[in-house]
Amino acid sequence: MCGIVGYIGLRQAAPVLLDGLAKLEYRGYDSAGIAVYDGKDINITKSKGRLQVLCELTHDGEKLPGHVGIGHTRWATHGEPNDVNSHPHFNESRSIVVVHNGIIENYASIKAKLIEKGYNFVSETDTEVIAHMLDYYYKGDPLEAIRKVMHRAEGAYALGIIFKEKPDMLYAVRKDSPLIVGKAADGNIIASDVPAVLKYTRDVCFIQNGEIAVLSKEDIKFCTIDAEDIQKEFTKIEWDVNAADKCGYEHYMLKEMFEQPEVIKDTLGSFFEDDRIVIPGVSITDEEIKKISKIYIVACGSAYHTGVTAKYVYEGMARIPVEVDLASEFRYRDPLLDKDSLVIIVSQSGETADSKAALEEAKRRGVRTLGIVNAIGSSIARDADDVVYTLAGLEIAVATTKAYSAQLIAHYMIALKFGLIRGEISEEEASDYIKDLKKLPDQVEMLLNNREKIQHFATRYAAAKDVFFIGRGIDYAISLEASLKLKEISYIHSEAYAAGELKHGTISLIEDGTLVAAVLTQEELYKKTMNNIVEVKTRGAFVLSVTNEGNTEIEKISDYNIYIPQTNKYFTNSLAIIPLQLFAYYVSVGKGFDVDKPRNLAKSVTVE
Ligand code: G6P
Repeated sequence: MCGIVGYIGLRQAAPVLLDGLAKLEYRGYDSAGIAVYDGKDINITKSKGRLQVLCELTHDGEKLPGHVGIGHTRWATHGEPNDVNSHPHFNESRSIVVVHNGIIENYASIKAKLIEKGYNFVSETDTEVIAHMLDYYYKGDPLEAIRKVMHRAEGAYALGIIFKEKPDMLYAVRKDSPLIVGKAADGNIIASDVPAVLKYTRDVCFIQNGEIAVLSKEDIKFCTIDAEDIQKEFTKIEWDVNAADKCGYEHYMLKEMFEQPEVIKDTLGSFFEDDRIVIPGVSITDEEIKKISKIYIVACGSAYHTGVTAKYVYEGMARIPVEVDLASEFRYRDPLLDKDSLVIIVSQSGETADSKAALEEAKRRGVRTLGIVNAIGSSIARDADDVVYTLAGLEIAVATTKAYSAQLIAHYMIALKFGLIRGEISEEEASDYIKDLKKLPDQVEMLLNNREKIQHFATRYAAAKDVFFIGRGIDYAISLEASLKLKEISYIHSEAYAAGELKHGTISLIEDGTLVAAVLTQEELYKKTMNNIVEVKTRGAFVLSVTNEGNTEIEKISDYNIYIPQTNKYFTNSLAIIPLQLFAYYVSVGKGFDVDKPRNLAKSVTVE
């Protein structure tokens, strides 16, 4: 979704803005723009398309001199992606300029009122109402105008604002869309996310809902929407300096896939204290864990898919019934939550609008909540009763890989601990599980290193029109994620089907040459899925199978086979997904697509 950057300081602002926007490209965007105040005028350059166009138009920022500015990458919601709708947006006299991430839900009624008052609009965006509203309320005090706008505007927003009458100030505001402030030696920065400021500082402060930050060259002050001054803490970001670099890999996605062994090891390690299993940073007591009557796992996209796998794991290891919900459904379905249930919200970014709303819904109903979150200090991490951090580090490719793998580990370990506390798992069983878990990093590494076979297959199938992924139980959950990976980055139509369900309709789509990818890692279901392979083969399908080492029987019916090392049945997802991630990646590369920034998608979906 949209990305915001703002800078005020001793440097030229434009290169800092362009550099920051480049670090936010991963969020997904279709146009970009910057505004820089040269002390006399606020000058804007904006354009549809890639950031590169903006760099060329501004000669890498040289054409826009000045020490204070704001920049934006836009992911269109209101109004098509074009130069006019791109941010920043001005008021009519070009004395106030704004960038915005989020949606102003009541913009239409505000716009109508402003038009009545004689304001003229040039764009179709909801953002332009902010610029005009600020103009309407501004009587010499920017903070007063900003507060009035905040009281009036409904929806989600993070704003960066410059007033021509205040050349030494940059204003930032947040309600429900992420925004951080960075304090550097030679100036201060605002941004939607940490990578945009890392080059200049590691001292970062997370702005909360209803807070305003006022930045000058040397200073940052905070106050609330109700004009109360507040002191805020800065956090030191410890990320690796290479986190936002490709480090020689062709794409971030490839780099992040190769980081999975390390990420799995780190996340796993965080659940141990002197060989004792702990759920790190969580205040829930053993007594409360024993009383949990039901778990709801609520999330979007790939995070939701980890929940589909986790259902089998929590139910199997801890014998707690689990419901898995899409956050966009859960928030509106009036769920019947027992007071002893636990709602687990899973999110890489911690800022996904639907997941945040689902968390609020659960809290409103008085149910205990636990976040499994990757982004430190994000909304879901802060707002959930407890948070377990996945240690995936910064993930830049839109299609998640390492954060997904880390989320799986968090589920396994929480399930294991719950199982132990509830007496469903003995210490011996737990130590067997742990032995298998500890092997995962090396096994994942081995699968990554043996990528040629799947790469070769992907090259052959890059022209496929439809792909069907099938599996049963956890293999169905793996299929869901494999199918999503493929369609996200290769734009091939694909579907995931519970293998037994195929014959109730979808099998009619199988014809000569249709690619069916079958996942068979659950030994007790192996024969059943083999039967389904035979069914699609009979209709002409070409079958790729991913199964456990030793299941060579598959070779009699399946055309192409990838074997994964032996592990416990609950953990096979962590291995089987690796060749399927690689498959999606190499198909996308083969088709010449922008793997890291697929069309129409955003990494962090901060609007509903
Ligand atoms: C977007 C991303 C997906 C991600 C989903 C949920 O759609 O492209 O990769 O799984 O959002 O995001 P979250 O940050 O909540 O895990």
